[in-house]
Amino acid sequence: MSSPVDVAVVVGSLRKESFSRKLAKALAAIAPPPLKLEIVEIGALPLFNQDDEANPPPPSVAFKSRIQKADAVLFVTPEYNRSVPGVLKNAIDVASRPYGKSAWDGKPAAVVSVSPGAIGAFGANHHLRQSLVFLNMPTLQQPEAYIGQAATLFDAGGKFANEQTREFATKFMTAFAAWIERCRN
Ligand code: FNR
Repeated sequence: MSSPVDVAVVVGSLRKESFSRKLAKALAAIAPPPLKLEIVEIGALPLFNQDDEANPPPPSVAFKSRIQKADAVLFVTPEYNRSVPGVLKNAIDVASRPYGKSAWDGKPAAVVSVSPGAIGAFGANHHLRQSLVFLNMPTLQQPEAYIGQAATLFDAGGKFANEQTREFATKFMTAFAAWIERCRN
């Protein structure tokens, strides 16, 4: 049996009832072995300040080492003003510095964007991908995951409310598992 693959899940919303967080949890529940998904919190990270690069605040150090330890990263994010929420961009910046010592470097990644609207946070998804190119994170291309109508997706217990979404989510996680495997070999 292969050893567990540690997937750090970074959620781009701090909202208690966040659809993105619900989706991250639902994806964790259906992830195929050997993937093991864990949400890595970003809400307590101080705003990145380049003056502190040589001596970052403790929450930033802890976050960066958690990302360093991960085998892969799954981003699940809403869209704010057609882009990535500031909290997520801040987390990305925090773990990317100092230059040449990024924790993201080379880690296989996937992006799921989520919105109550119709276009599934496409703008955030692709703005995020722009950063991932620079961060040298090989990112799953297909299937793309622009999840719209988020308010209809979950039942009261946080499980997928319809079979179609559950099937897509399973297909996505299976493709991500294969992608991670490919990137690691
Ligand atoms: C939004 N929302 C939003 N939705 C969208 O599809 N495209 C957008 O550009 C924006 N812009 C935006 C800006 C700001 C500042 C807020 C607070 C919200 C709506 C957003 O999708 C909605 O609030 C989601 O519920 C946020 O995701 P979580 O918190 O449910 O994961």
